[in-house]
Amino acid sequence: MSSRVLVIGGTGKIGRHLVMASLNAGHSTAVLIRPVAAGADCDRARLLEDFVTCGASLVHGDINDREALVAAIGQADVVICAVGHTLVEEVESQLKIVAVIQEKKYLQRFMPSEFCIAVELAEQMLEPVRSIFGAKLRVREALRAAGVPHTIIRGNLTQGFLVPRFGNPSDTGLTTILGDGEAQAYLVNEKDISALAIRTMEDPRTLNRILHVRPPMNLCSLNRLASLFGRIKSARRSRNTMCVRKISSRKYKSPRSLSTFSWRLCMRPSSWARRR
Ligand SMILES: NC(=O)c1ccc[n+]([C@@H]2O[C@H](COP(=O)([O-])OP(=O)(O)OC[C@H]3O[C@@H](n4cnc5c(N)ncnc54)[C@H](OP(=O)(O)O)[C@@H]3O)[C@@H](O)[C@H]2O)c1
Repeated sequence: MSSRVLVIGGTGKIGRHLVMASLNAGHSTAVLIRPVAAGADCDRARLLEDFVTCGASLVHGDINDREALVAAIGQADVVICAVGHTLVEEVESQLKIVAVIQEKKYLQRFMPSEFCIAVELAEQMLEPVRSIFGAKLRVREALRAAGVPHTIIRGNLTQGFLVPRFGNPSDTGLTTILGDGEAQAYLVNEKDISALAIRTMEDPRTLNRILHVRPPMNLCSLNRLASLFGRIKSARRSRNTMCVRKISSRKYKSPRSLSTFSWRLCMRPSSWARRR
């Protein structure tokens, strides 16, 4: 069945795949686009052109513009949000989406911007991840309290975002291995997560549930990733190991200054192994 899908955050790293996955599945797809100065970002302009060529419609607006948000959500059966995690405010902006959906008479499904690892373990994370995951939890609580039909996609670690950042590579050719490098994580491709998200939005089994994306073949440790990298690139990189205490004592200004792989794996490798 074809649904009217609205993607918020469609120009982002995950959002662009959600837009394409929705179009590929034959859904009528709209993308909420923030206005930017003309010619400000050529890549973004090209991406928007691609969306339109593939059949998406662009709706100009901002989550903080209530009128535009009400109008955009009013035209949708499914709302998928993929706003980023750079700031707590960006994550919490989704509370405005929840408020608008609550007022709407019918919505088939809302997918908040998750596509993430164990948000429930926010308290065990280092800052700034603790605060950002805390905000994601507040969004979850709000949509449950509002009775919004939803599905949370727990995508684990995204390959496109993380693999290039693996080991926090630098020009020195040094790869940082956290702890003993044996803690494992699921690395999932953004396109696969997006295709799965679109398939689940009409599935009654995923209503008000968390969908864990854990393909067994994608389970990988940092040590294994380092070996694979060495084989693919035929390059010898030096390895630098960093103990958990040292990682905990370092201050990171933004989640992007340290890969998600690092955030999660460095914290409690033994509990991570048990939980997976
Ligand atoms: N599991 C993992 O390894 C992993 C990795 C990365 C991300 N994630 C998760 O995936 C989700 C998406 O992250 P991302 O990195 O793909 O995000 P991103 O690249 O930073 O993109 C954010 C998107 O949100 C839009 N946006 C931000 N504020 C907005 C507003 N007020 N109104 C309308 N649009 C707004 C941006 O639009 P503009 O183009 O106008 O800026 C952009 O399209 C997050 O929940 C993140 O935690 C998970």
